[in-house]
Amino acid sequence: MSDLSRFGVSAEEELLQNFDRMIAGQGYANRSEALRDLMRDALVKSKLEDAPETGRVLGSLTLVYDHHASDLNDKMNSLQHEYFNSIASVLHVHISQDDCLEVIVLRGEISQVRALADALLSLKGVKHGKLFVTLPAQEIVEPKKSAPKN
Ligand code: NI
Repeated sequence: MSDLSRFGVSAEEELLQNFDRMIAGQGYANRSEALRDLMRDALVKSKLEDAPETGRVLGSLTLVYDHHASDLNDKMNSLQHEYFNSIASVLHVHISQDDCLEVIVLRGEISQVRALADALLSLKGVKHGKLFVTLPAQEIVEPKKSAPKN
């Protein structure tokens, strides 16, 4: 880990009490780790919003779907082959007679990752799903890249 810096934060008593209650409920041992996680999350969001169409990302797409839905398995299979470059791994679990849960681990260009997620999430028969996107750990704390100069 890089060198640690300490800083003081002022906050209203009520805000702090609520924050402490929340992070204790989430299992944090102290405020520092909770704050570091919030900072990393904010940095990832900011960097992804600044460069929405370029750059490599990591992520996962979780889908719940009814495998009886017509042609759904074929369509999902075709899309995953079309975007094979962005898929690192797939986990499939049969969660009931009808439903399947799939977790697709993604690693690739953000535009490709988002296109695949949108295409899968919008298929008929997909009941619920969510894309999670993050950056390689070292890129979270890197300074923002400035625009290239000519
Ligand atoms: Ni299944």
